[in-house]
Amino acid sequence: MNHRSWMRSQGFTPEVFDGRPVIGIATTWSELAPCNVHLHRVAESVKRGVWQAGGFPLEFPTMALGETLLRPTAMLYRNLLAMEAEELFRANPLDGVVLLSGCDKTTPGLLMAAASAGLPAIMVTGGPMLSGKYQGGDVGSGTAVWRWEEDLLAGRMTQEECVFAEGCMARSNGHCMTMGTASTMASMAEALGMQLPYSATWPAVDARRYETAQRAGQVIVDLVNDGTTPADIMTRDAFENAIRVNAAIGGSTNAVIHLLAIAGRLGVPLTLDDFDALARDVPTLVNLQPSGKYLMEDFCYAGGLPAVMRELGGMLHPGARTVTGKTVGENVADAACWNREVIHALDAPFQPAGTGTAVLRGNLAPDGAVIKQSAASPRLLKHRGRALVFDSPEEYHHVAGDPDLDADEDTVLVIRYCGPKGYPGMPEVANVPLPAKLLRRGVRDIVRICDGRMSGTAYGTVVLHVAPEAAAGGPLGLVRTGDLITLDVPARTLTLEVTDDELALRRAAWTASPPPAARGWTWLYTEHVKQANTGADLDFLTGASGAAIGRDSH
Ligand code: FES
Repeated sequence: MNHRSWMRSQGFTPEVFDGRPVIGIATTWSELAPCNVHLHRVAESVKRGVWQAGGFPLEFPTMALGETLLRPTAMLYRNLLAMEAEELFRANPLDGVVLLSGCDKTTPGLLMAAASAGLPAIMVTGGPMLSGKYQGGDVGSGTAVWRWEEDLLAGRMTQEECVFAEGCMARSNGHCMTMGTASTMASMAEALGMQLPYSATWPAVDARRYETAQRAGQVIVDLVNDGTTPADIMTRDAFENAIRVNAAIGGSTNAVIHLLAIAGRLGVPLTLDDFDALARDVPTLVNLQPSGKYLMEDFCYAGGLPAVMRELGGMLHPGARTVTGKTVGENVADAACWNREVIHALDAPFQPAGTGTAVLRGNLAPDGAVIKQSAASPRLLKHRGRALVFDSPEEYHHVAGDPDLDADEDTVLVIRYCGPKGYPGMPEVANVPLPAKLLRRGVRDIVRICDGRMSGTAYGTVVLHVAPEAAAGGPLGLVRTGDLITLDVPARTLTLEVTDDELALRRAAWTASPPPAARGWTWLYTEHVKQANTGADLDFLTGASGAAIGRDSH
C-alpha cells in the first residue's frame, strides 16, 4: 500500500500496479546541457510506446553532463554519471530502463551504468542539430570553432564576424552535428545493437526521432519480457562491429576510451591494440566533418548508419544480436544509400583503409597512444622534430602569441599533465592552436603530443591519450624542450631520442605533483582512475553487480 499510495499522488489509476513491467526512463535533460534540453519531449514519445506495449513508464533524472560548460572537463564526471545512474537503476523497483542521452559523455556514462546494473536496457540518443549555415555555406559544430579561432588569431576574421557566426552554428536542438564524439557515440550505441536502426542520425527536430523514441518504448517492454540484458547484446562480436563501424564513419578517438570502459563493465576482453588491428583494413566510407565535408543531417538523408553497416557487409559479425530482437545482418539487409558523395561504397571509399585511428607505442608511450590519421596531415605522419614542452595547456596559451617563441614547422609541441589524474579528468586540450607566428606564416599543422584527449570535432596531427600519463610517472613527464622526438605512424612508433641512462637520471629527479584535491569527488577520482589505455574508468567500478539484491517492492 505504501508504494502504491505514494505513486498515486501523481494521479495514476490503480491498474498500473497490475504487474506490468515498470520501465524507467533515465534522462540526462538539463538546461546546463543544451545538447540534451529536448530530452523531456523525447521521453514523452518513449512513454507513449511503453504504455502501448503494456508497460508502466516512469521518467527520472540522472546527472546531465554538458560538454561546453562543465569545468575542468565533462570527462571528470563520466564515471560519476555512470555510478549514479547504475545505483538508481538498481535501487528503484525497475524492470527495464530507457537511456536518454546526447551530449558526449552522457551516452557512454549511461551505457556503462546499464552494463553494470544488468537490467534490460535500450538507448535513445537525442539526435544531432540541423546543419549550421553561415555565409551560404555549411558550418559544423566545433570544427568551425577551431578554424575560426585560428582565423581570428591570424587576423582573417573580426570579433564581430565571430559573434554573428556563433549564432549560425548551433541553430536547433540536438548535439553537435559533425562526426564529433556525440555523433560517434550515438553511432557506437547503434553499432553495438543498443539503439534502434537509424536512431543515431535522425536530426533532433525530425519527427522520425520521436517516432523512433516511441518505438523504443515498445521495444523495452519486449526486452523485459524476454529477459534480454545489455550483456546479451554487447558481446565481443558487438564491440568488434562497433570498432569497425567507427573506422568507417571516421569517428572520434574518444570512442576508444569509452568502448574500453563499457567493455570493462561487462567483462568483455577488449584492448587498445584491438582498435588498431580491427580498423586497419577498414576504409573510411563516410565523408563527414571533421575528416570530410558533410554533416550529420546529410548523413541521415544519405541513408544513415544502416547504409554504412550494410556496405561493410562481411567485415561485420552479422549474427550479433540487437535490441530489435533481430541480428545486425537482418537489421541492415535492406538499407539503401541515397548519396554516394556522403556514404561511399566499399570499393570506392572516401579514404582508403589504414587511415583510421592508429595505436602507437614506444619509449614515450609504453602503454600506448593514439592518433586519428584521417584528421592528420599526411606529410607529418612520419616526422622528426625538437620538442617544445609545456606542463599545461594554459602555460602554452600564455606564450602562443609570442612572436619570438622558439618554434617552427618542425617543432613537436608537447602538452602534458593533461591525463586522467593530471588535469584532472583528461580534458580535450591536445589540439592546442598553433603558435600565432606559425599561423601568420601560413603553417596549418604541426605535430602535437599530449596525454589528454582531443575533441571529436577537431583535426590536426595530434598524438593523444599517451599512457602512462605524465602525472602517473609516465615518460612524457621526462621530456625536455630540445629533445628529439620521432613519430612514425606507419611503423606505429613514438620515440623519444634520449638514452635509457639519461631517462633514468631524469626519472630519479622527477617528483609527483600533489593531488589536486584532498576531499570529494575529485579526490576519489584521482585516487582510483585508471589510465586511458584501459578506458579511464574507476578501478572499483570495473565489472558488474547485476540487478538489485532483495528487490521486492513490486
Ligand atoms: Fe554537446 Fe558537442 S557540446 S555534443
